[in-house]
Amino acid sequence: MRHPILAANWKMHKTVGEATAFVARLLPRVEEARGVEIVLAVPFTVLERVGRSLEGSAVHLAAQNVHPEEQGAFTGEISPGMLADLGCRYAIVGHSERRVLFAETDDFVARKAAALLERDILPIVCVGESLEDREAKRTWDVLGAQIQGSLARVPDELAGEIVIAYEPVWAIGTGRTATPEIAQEAHAFIRDRLANRFGAAGAQIRIQYGGSVNPENVYALMQQPDIDGALVGGASLDPEAFARIVAFESQGSVQ
Ligand code: 13P
Repeated sequence: MRHPILAANWKMHKTVGEATAFVARLLPRVEEARGVEIVLAVPFTVLERVGRSLEGSAVHLAAQNVHPEEQGAFTGEISPGMLADLGCRYAIVGHSERRVLFAETDDFVARKAAALLERDILPIVCVGESLEDREAKRTWDVLGAQIQGSLARVPDELAGEIVIAYEPVWAIGTGRTATPEIAQEAHAFIRDRLANRFGAAGAQIRIQYGGSVNPENVYALMQQPDIDGALVGGASLDPEAFARIVAFESQGSVQ
């Protein structure tokens, strides 16, 4: 049984004041959410304050990035131990914005994922092809290489601790969501790779879809057999919209 996992990725948005106002409006709206996991991936600068606001709720705190070393001369970086100290349950690694804008490689992503697991923080490992890759029919090669490279350091016995986010780059922030069928095809491919890598444990790994998810399209995506959640950027900045995404099951009845 894979519990749905709905995660907000705020990216570089929200001050402390805006973040606490968001949490105050979100929590009453998701109290009834049962059987789903809710995650807020927020900027480093608001982790501590948001963490305190989430105390006593079922919503998990997450970081958007991490450095693989525990400490040292890495100006501007944040370690897994620092995130654990603030109560982070999850951290995103390998987001396409980090891969593209900050030249992060699969090996660097793999080191981050392994370092998080050492601290009992669950990595959300992002993969996804660019439009150029898709048009050149390289999607499966790219996804296969990212899965293999980014998970290379995950110990077999910790397979159940990771989450994968399939985020096609062409769907991020563009309003151009992958159709449920296109997303499912990629998720099934990733599921197959995970089974190759981890055996039966691969079937238990949750795979989120990300890329222009909103309250209107989340239900259809979540009906797909290998889509186990969503990683939401733009629509997660608004507490009402994100609460509607969390309550995706009820969106089905209004369509
Ligand atoms: P959007 O939902 O804004 O397309 O962003 C998706 C994403 O990158 C989440 O990590």
